[in-house]
Amino acid sequence: MHLYGTQTVNDKGHLTIGGVDAIDLAHTYGTPLNVYDIALFRERAKAFKETFKNAGMRAQVAYASKAFSSIAIYEVAEQEGLSLDVVSGGELHTAVAAGFPRERIHFHGNNKSFTELQYAFDEKIGCIVIDNFSEIALVKEIAETRKEKMNVLIRVTPGVEAHTHDYITTGQEDSKFGFDLKNGQTDEAFLQLHDHPYIELLGMHCHIGSQIFETDAFRLAAEALMEKMITWRDNHAFICTVLNLGGGFGIRYTEEDTPLAPAVYVEEMATVVLALTRSYNYPVPEIWIEPGRSLVGDAGTTLYTTGSAKVVPGVRTYIAVDGGMADNIRPALYGAHYTAASANRMDEPHDDKVTIAGKCCESGDKIIEEAYLAAPTEGDVIAVFCTGAYGYSMASNYNRLPKPAIVFCENGEHQLVVRRETYEDVIRLDIPLQKVKQEETI
Ligand code: LLP
Repeated sequence: MHLYGTQTVNDKGHLTIGGVDAIDLAHTYGTPLNVYDIALFRERAKAFKETFKNAGMRAQVAYASKAFSSIAIYEVAEQEGLSLDVVSGGELHTAVAAGFPRERIHFHGNNKSFTELQYAFDEKIGCIVIDNFSEIALVKEIAETRKEKMNVLIRVTPGVEAHTHDYITTGQEDSKFGFDLKNGQTDEAFLQLHDHPYIELLGMHCHIGSQIFETDAFRLAAEALMEKMITWRDNHAFICTVLNLGGGFGIRYTEEDTPLAPAVYVEEMATVVLALTRSYNYPVPEIWIEPGRSLVGDAGTTLYTTGSAKVVPGVRTYIAVDGGMADNIRPALYGAHYTAASANRMDEPHDDKVTIAGKCCESGDKIIEEAYLAAPTEGDVIAVFCTGAYGYSMASNYNRLPKPAIVFCENGEHQLVVRRETYEDVIRLDIPLQKVKQEETI
């Protein structure tokens, strides 16, 4: 069994996270419960930042907060000197509520509304990552009306797409995001932005995929973007000061996943960029990256309590837990794999093969198809590891299940940072039918 970060087993045979007994957490806060190992988040953040520093490169490491957005995690990100990638007015509002430094907020999205863009200007955020021609028109309109400056990056699709261990290079990129680098759209966007009185074009952005385990795709993407930057210098005397290479660094969900240390990705990026800038005599740009999953993924563990069991003779045993696809849609949506353990009996052999099922009314609601647990009995606390990214952030109230609570653990302390939804929360936006007065119906 693989334990993550600060996780250990204490003398009661219980899982501990951040020095806190997971069973105590389950009793105190109830289940399902999302528990974050904050020391691990900090360690990952430091690893990305330090490597840029060691390579002597100016950089911003922006937490891609779509992976898990809450006021408290933004506060930790701020403590670690991270920047923040937000993709909606809602994430921006969360950052504002957390008091996150506005100049380190980067705003993404392929369909930012006029209202969202106004909000970004109101808050004087650090940068808007421009995705398409409609957005260029909106941003110009707002900047000109207000006579206010805004930093922007141009998001491009570099024709490099990476998924786990494979990457493909394509000529024309079929993606809803960004400007195509090769068909002239990126140059057109550049021409519309580079000498505008209120637009400060900083450079380019790309994001080539998620859960990537090799560096080649990042190298190819960096080369493609640098090549374009060099043509703009040669043809328009324009220098990009920022090169944003996105996120996508892989993590270990199961033993099949073989992630690289943050430093390996960063070193590769630094090597490519430094080599190209040297050979073309180009000023070294600041490198920005946007890790999401690799900052919060393995820092998060979900605790569930087991309920009913169903044996299908000769087929399998279902162990049902008190959550499911409402708090973690990834197995149902992507066929994502996780590992689990019996958090209250960590010291016992985990050799019972079971299927961990959720409690939603859907056959596909299984958290783990093949999990190995210590002979499960009703009332056990099951820990599902590595659920910190895109779990809570994609949670729903399917079947009107209240969303779980979230607890941060660090140095033996625990703190509730998102409270559990109540049934009242679940119906808080409902409006009953207007009562029609009886005499009017006669
Ligand atoms: N930057 C941009 C522009 C992105 O679109 C994303 C993720 C990231 C950074 C962060 O990528 P990460 O480091 O977390 O891989 N819901 C899916 C993942 C969707 C990723 C969307 N964009 C999942 O659960 O696997």
